Amino acid sequence: MKAVRFHQYGDADALRVEDVERPTPGTGQVVVQVAGTSFNPVDATIRAGYLEQVFPVTLPFTPGIDLAGTVAALGEGVTRFELGDRVVGLLPMTTDGASAEYVAAPTEVLAAAPTTVPLADTAALPVTGLTAWQALFEHADVQPGQRILVHGGGGAVGGYAVQLAVQAGVTVVATAGPRNTDRVRGYGAEVPGRGIDGVTGQFDAVLNFAPVPPEDMAALADLVRDGGVLVTTTTPGPQDNPRGVRSSSVFVRPDTEQLAALVDRVDAGRLHVHVADRVGLDDLSAVHARNDAGTLTGRTVITL
Ligand SMILES: NC(=O)c1ccc[n+]([C@@H]2O[C@H](COP(=O)([O-])OP(=O)(O)OC[C@H]3O[C@@H](n4cnc5c(N)ncnc54)[C@H](OP(=O)(O)O)[C@@H]3O)[C@@H](O)[C@H]2O)c1
Repeated sequence: MKAVRFHQYGDADALRVEDVERPTPGTGQVVVQVAGTSFNPVDATIRAGYLEQVFPVTLPFTPGIDLAGTVAALGEGVTRFELGDRVVGLLPMTTDGASAEYVAAPTEVLAAAPTTVPLADTAALPVTGLTAWQALFEHADVQPGQRILVHGGGGAVGGYAVQLAVQAGVTVVATAGPRNTDRVRGYGAEVPGRGIDGVTGQFDAVLNFAPVPPEDMAALADLVRDGGVLVTTTTPGPQDNPRGVRSSSVFVRPDTEQLAALVDRVDAGRLHVHVADRVGLDDLSAVHARNDAGTLTGRTVITL
């Protein structure tokens, strides 16, 4: 089968399309014929070797933690899925990923895929949808009637966070650049601009999904009300805030119940899966290069 791999940590051109052996399912695993995966910034961080201590991978390695596809083989003890089931999932960071025609996946990270969106496109849901869910409902514990700021609302995580928060009865102000403004307004947020200059008032929670420097995190903390929370997926927030503003960093984890709840919302037409671009396996190296150059935003789906 075809798979993208890197043999050494390095730049985007370390990624090559190769012929490799098709995986077989271990106990409790299925092998999924991949319809799509999507690029996440962490894929590039792992490829560059920056996370070698945290997520040690065996080289050569195939990236791609977002998965959408069809169950093609069942391992011992698998009862939750049958051959032909359409699934989505957030794969473990340290085992070969979904930038390949087939991937082995533990069933505990998989849920039935949405049926109302092309299967490949649903690869734009697991990582970013789960991150948004966990940021909102676990770290910020948002409640109906609250007012929150989503910084980076035009990005992949931000877009889901805005939609989920609005539907939970939360008033949402979101920052987004010009190309995303109309879409994020369409989700029900007020969008004053890309930066926080036009943002007024204070918020029960500020959620940061933009890769910003530490000084920006201090400015975001100033926008949180006394005793509120600053949640971030990127730069850590300031600690020991004199006003009792708590900082909380998100590290997304698989959760099939949350993923199933996201899938239900997609199929009910309440959660829009936004795909910024679609490319083939041959283009994955170029996608990593665009990320490294800082010119990639939103979710790019790699279709097979
Ligand atoms: N810790 C975790 O578990 C976890 C999980 C998922 C993601 N992440 C991280 O979370 C971040 C968001 O992920 P994503 O997939 O949503 O990325 P994304 O689609 O690239 O979105 C990031 C957004 O941030 C905005 N942005 C970038 N720099 C900005 C700045 N200086 N000021 C204001 N806005 C700025 C961009 O806005 P424009 O489009 O207007 O340029 C973009 O829409 C990434 O850094 C990712 O690595 C972490």
